[in-house]
Amino acid sequence: MAEERTLILLKPDALQRGITGKIISRIEERGLQIVGLRMIELDDVKCKEHYSHLVGKPFYPKLVEFMTSAPVIALVAQGAEAVKVVREMCGPTNARNAPAGTIRGDYSLSTQYNVIHASDSLETAKKEVARFFADVQIFAWNRELSKFTAAEDEK
Ligand code: PPS
Repeated sequence: MAEERTLILLKPDALQRGITGKIISRIEERGLQIVGLRMIELDDVKCKEHYSHLVGKPFYPKLVEFMTSAPVIALVAQGAEAVKVVREMCGPTNARNAPAGTIRGDYSLSTQYNVIHASDSLETAKKEVARFFADVQIFAWNRELSKFTAAEDEK
């Protein structure tokens, strides 16, 4: 098992609703280590890169309009199996199907305004982290707590 890094975006609706702090707390409280954090304004080009697999979908124009309507907060979270752990914390894309206890299940009723994006595989995570963070914006800081979040053979 390995420590992984995953990319998280807190979407414009999370900023508009003032719930970014609560979501970041949940990520930290789960035991994930934040090794990168930035506020970013997306533009059409960045959206096209990030959502390239969705460009032909009927909802794509509205997705871009939404994602460029206010800044996003981008995070890199690190931990044992971080990609899977964060996806499960988010719940399904359609928040109406998201169980209570997940971030979307607790904060959203929407597929578009679903408050959070998280990388869906380790391969995607590597690309998405590099898309939003330069190497110097990621901090490999020594977190004392890490010895209690997963045993050595789980990292
Ligand atoms: S898909 O449709 O299976 O390819 O969806 P997915 O890869 O999970 O990503 C969909 C992202 O687009 C956002 N979005 C919508 N999806 C579906 N339907 C509608 N109407 C829609 N509007 C927006 C959705 O929030 C997903 O965003 P991310 O940032 O990837 O979670």
